[in-house]
Order: sequence, then structure tokens, then C-alpha cells
Amino acid sequence: MSTTLTGPERASIRLDPENYQFLQEFVYRESGIVLDRDKHYLMEARLSPIVAQQRLGSLNELCRALKAAGPSGLRQQVVDSMTTNETMFFREPVQYDALRKVVLPRLMEQRRDRRRLNFWSAAASSGQEAYSLAMMLREMGLEDWYIQINATDLSTQILERARQGRFLQIEVNRGLPVQYLVKYFRRDGMDWIIRDEIRNMVRFERFDLRQGMGAMGPFDVVFCRNVLIYFDVCTKKRILGEIRSTLFRGGHLLLGGSETTLGLDDGYELVPACGTVLYRVP
Ligand SMILES: C[S@@+](CC[C@H](N)C(=O)[O-])C[C@H]1O[C@@H](n2cnc3c(N)ncnc32)[C@H](O)[C@@H]1O
Repeated sequence: MSTTLTGPERASIRLDPENYQFLQEFVYRESGIVLDRDKHYLMEARLSPIVAQQRLGSLNELCRALKAAGPSGLRQQVVDSMTTNETMFFREPVQYDALRKVVLPRLMEQRRDRRRLNFWSAAASSGQEAYSLAMMLREMGLEDWYIQINATDLSTQILERARQGRFLQIEVNRGLPVQYLVKYFRRDGMDWIIRDEIRNMVRFERFDLRQGMGAMGPFDVVFCRNVLIYFDVCTKKRILGEIRSTLFRGGHLLLGGSETTLGLDDGYELVPACGTVLYRVP
């Protein structure tokens, strides 16, 4: 049976096996993300829009352009497209409960003189994680504290979105309590924009988690959620060790629900709280 394919579909169907392997290696080198051998569909779906936008004939041509060390903008565009940016406001709410009920009251007591707290959202995506934290801190009456929330990601494209603090209706419908929407967002056409009082609490920067973290921190709490799952064991171990060195003694790491330090880094204590597990530096 012969089917006429057009546009991205035609571009994607011609990806040669050696170019699939080239892209696997390219994505691993540039991001640490491991793509299995059966991720053809994902690669094609994510990269075909770049092929169309750059007016290249096929994914193989895209590979040729990358191999020719093409413009760094193209390399970044390909890496950005291969990241999975799925996120939502107050994702894994039990972790925010544990922060609000257990971790923060203790920190507020310990720091009542300095009145300063440092946080890091280490794979921040479009910003919902960092903004959720900022809104929660504001609700806890910490307005007159010096709060620093660093939010970083590998993808420059997603960081640009995060900085804008502009969200679609469908995004504010996911996880955000309606009273927070009313209080901390304003409507702009079909979108919702986060108010400056919250946006200004967060500083967004590009950071590759595989970089050395000597210049980061010290932090009271690090969120590194739903990103380790994309890395191999060796990369996970290195990142967990580096993050540990950015935390204050007694500082906490929050991982995604399917992630753990177990078997990777025994320098963390597991702390059960509010139906979840936090990872603390003793
Ligand atoms: C699934 S999102 C997680 C967002 C948020 N932490 C959450 O749990 O909702 C994963 C994020 O990790 C980022 N990422 C992937 N590789 C990275 C790397 N090497 N360094 C920093 N960020 C990376 C992606 O760009 C993406 O935005």
C-alpha cells in the first residue's frame, strides 16, 4: 500500500538508522537525556516542526546541519525540543503540605533572627513549581523575610515562558486553587499573568544539572523533581551528590514521586512527612 505523506510526516519517515543513533548521542551529549532505541516516534514528533520551520527537506537533513556544527541556535532548538516540560501548579500536593506543615515551621523558628530563606527549583520548566512555592510562602506570611527562589532549567525556550509568567486557562485549571488564581493572577485576553509580587520572588536562569554546583547555594530546600528519570545511573549519582553539597546541613531535597536517592546516594536521610518522603542532609 502506498500513502502520500506531506510536511512533517514525510520529513520524519526518512530518518536513517545511523542518524537515529546520531540524534540519540547528540541529545545525550547536550542534555544527559537517554533516549532508548524505540523512541523513533518521540524524536520524529518533536523534531519534525524544526525541519519544517528551517525549511529542511527531512530529519536526515537536520542531522546533516547539526553535524556541520550548524548555528548554535539550531543545536539549542533541537535540545529544547527533546526535553519533556510536563509540569503543573502544586504538582504532588503532599510535598507542599510537608513543606508547609513540617519543614517551613522549623526553618522559620531556626531563622527567626536572619529572616532569610533560599530555595532552588532545579528543573523548573515553565515555572509552575517555583511560582507555587512563592505563592505558598506569601500565604504563610513571610512578606518581610528575604526569600530567594532560584529557578533553573536547561531549555532556554521554556525559561523564556517561565519568566513571562503567562499561563493558558488549561494550565491554571491544573492544580491551582481558585483563590490563588483570583489573588495572584490577572487576566490578559485568554491568558492569565502572574502578579509582579510573585514573579519578582523568582529568578530564572539557564543551568545544566550536569554542571558543577560549587557556585550554587547554600539552599534550605531544593526541588529536583521529575527530571532524574531521564538520566542514566551515573548522571543521577553525580547530580544527587552535587545537590547535596548545595544544601545547608538539615536542608531538604524534594524528588518526583517515582524518584529516589536509594541505591544512588547514601548521604541523604529519608524523612517521612505528610504521606511523602523528603531527603534531608544530616
Ligand atoms: C518534566 S519537567 C519537570 C518540571 C518540574 N520540576 C515538575 O516536576 O513539575 C523536566 C524538566 O527538566 C529539564 N531538563 C532536562 N534535562 C536537563 C538538564 N540536563 N539540566 C537541567 N534541566 C534539564 C527539562 O527542560 C524540563 O523542563
